[in-house]
Amino acid sequence: MAREWSIASAVNELTAAFEAAGLDTPRLDARILVGHAVQLEPSLLFAHGERILTDPEYTLVRDFAARRGQREPVSRITGHRGFWDLDFALTPDTLDPRPDTETVVSAVLARRLMFISPRVLDLGTGTGCILLAVLQGWPAASGVGVDLNPGAVAAAAANAERLGFARRAAFRQGNWCDGLDERFDVIVSNPPYISDAEMATLAPEVGRFDPHLALAGGADGLAAYRAVIPAAWSQLNQMGRVFLEIGAGQAPAVTQLLRAAGFSGIGEYKDLAGIVRCLEAVKA
Ligand SMILES: C[S@@+](CC[C@H](N)C(=O)[O-])C[C@H]1O[C@@H](n2cnc3c(N)ncnc32)[C@H](O)[C@@H]1O
Repeated sequence: MAREWSIASAVNELTAAFEAAGLDTPRLDARILVGHAVQLEPSLLFAHGERILTDPEYTLVRDFAARRGQREPVSRITGHRGFWDLDFALTPDTLDPRPDTETVVSAVLARRLMFISPRVLDLGTGTGCILLAVLQGWPAASGVGVDLNPGAVAAAAANAERLGFARRAAFRQGNWCDGLDERFDVIVSNPPYISDAEMATLAPEVGRFDPHLALAGGADGLAAYRAVIPAAWSQLNQMGRVFLEIGAGQAPAVTQLLRAAGFSGIGEYKDLAGIVRCLEAVKA
């Protein structure tokens, strides 16, 4: 009887269903979701493979399987995403942080010796992942995260509190730098950068579950950079640095916007796929 699934058979059933649905990583997804339902690390499932699911666990596994079958990402179902070495809670208001964005964090941390106790501003903070990862790697730093979406601001503040950064991180709702009365040493941003044409072709996991405000970058994908770059120039201290995540192929256009705003010393950082993913520039 289906209700007598063991942990191992639940993993196998979900794997088969996800394979049939054409998902990219069926077994991995099945292991994470069954592990989440029975509250075991996926690596421990094998050792407990014979255990029969309780009724509530069975109901949870079926619910998770149905949601994943509708292409809801695993991280949305579990409500968590690991980024850098921190665990971020997700809400429907936050982008699901991407591994590529760690390129921005490592670019910032490479400049640790340049500032003594820097103030860091994160424009479009979402879960707060960039700001909080930077603060983790840079104990002398403190900062502010801004988002237009009040739900994201609340989620980022809750992540900061839970991860122990509440004393060094503040969050506020706003349109990029509007209303900020402080200058910063480092500004980071992963703004929305998907063009209208690409928005129509997104995988369901992205298009249906990440907030539109976090993705849509206007006709050519560069609308947010046109706002963020001059705002960052005004909000930086002299010799301050801006670090921007960019989409594949956007480096030349965003470099031009940085130069036009007055920035110099422009540097490029590649992600693990070899794509230029982050631009750095100096207000010299
Ligand atoms: C691509 S997401 C990045 C989220 C997070 N920093 C990350 O890397 O996972 C862009 C974020 O910018 C926010 N955003 C969009 N327009 C904004 C604006 N005008 N002012 C401030 N934040 C904005 C979105 O709500 C979203 O959280």
